[in-house]
Amino acid sequence: MKLIKKLWMLVLLSTVPVMVLASTEAHLDKAPASLSDQASLQRGAKFFVANCTACHSAAYMRYNRLADIGLTEAEIKSLLPEGSKLGSTMKAAMDSESAKMAFGAAPPDLSVIARSRGNDWLYTYLRSFYVDTARPSGVNNVLFPLVAMPNILGPLQGDQALHVEKHEGGHEVKTLKLVAPGSMSTQEFDATVGDLVNFLDFMAEPAKLVRYKLGYIVIGFLFILLILTYLLKKEFWKDVH
Ligand code: HEC
Repeated sequence: MKLIKKLWMLVLLSTVPVMVLASTEAHLDKAPASLSDQASLQRGAKFFVANCTACHSAAYMRYNRLADIGLTEAEIKSLLPEGSKLGSTMKAAMDSESAKMAFGAAPPDLSVIARSRGNDWLYTYLRSFYVDTARPSGVNNVLFPLVAMPNILGPLQGDQALHVEKHEGGHEVKTLKLVAPGSMSTQEFDATVGDLVNFLDFMAEPAKLVRYKLGYIVIGFLFILLILTYLLKKEFWKDVH
């Protein structure tokens, strides 16, 4: 009995720091990303190459690896920037030094950003820019205050304004409202960013796709083994009964 009580205390105590952490963290929206959705990965890849590689590189990603998500060689070729070959890694069009001069911070390599930040963070970040005329870029970001990245998705999403509600005890609730629509509806924009994050997730660990496939093969193998073992058991005990 005493032991059970002690164990209970241990469980309770171990949850305390988690709760404290949770209350100070910003709210993250759940990314609608699924690595098994190949069409979404392809849309995300095209969007990434067209919109992000102007400033960001993805040094661990070669263009020809896009075949892993079902793009044909012709489709990949149509994405290639000038001077890149099928086997080239994704290089930023702008070199890091000039970007630093232009924006005040160097755009980081995005190869493994999904592993360091997580899908939900990325999905929320890319949708959390708001108008802030005090900033050189004219925008700020709820998840990344004073961010140096311009809101390059603004023309699609539209302009958002920040509303801060102050609650007792200094607790603030930040919400964003669309004040000028962009070329996409909110649903379209969220789906587009979802595809993009899906691709960032794939890029951070391309082997995940192979591992998933391997998982099914292993389970299938074990299932066949189970049936064989059962038949064998029946065979062995046949004469006993
Ligand atoms: C015009 C240049 C530019 C373009 C285009 C651009 N970014 Fe950025 N991005 C930046 C800069 C500069 C930073 C660094 C921000 C800082 O450190 O304050 C940044 C930061 C980021 C970060 C935060 C990285 C971190 O520190 O965790 C992410 C994520 C990101 N960009 C994703 C994207 C994606 C996805 C696209 C394409 C839709 C994109 N960016 C397009 C300039 C750009």
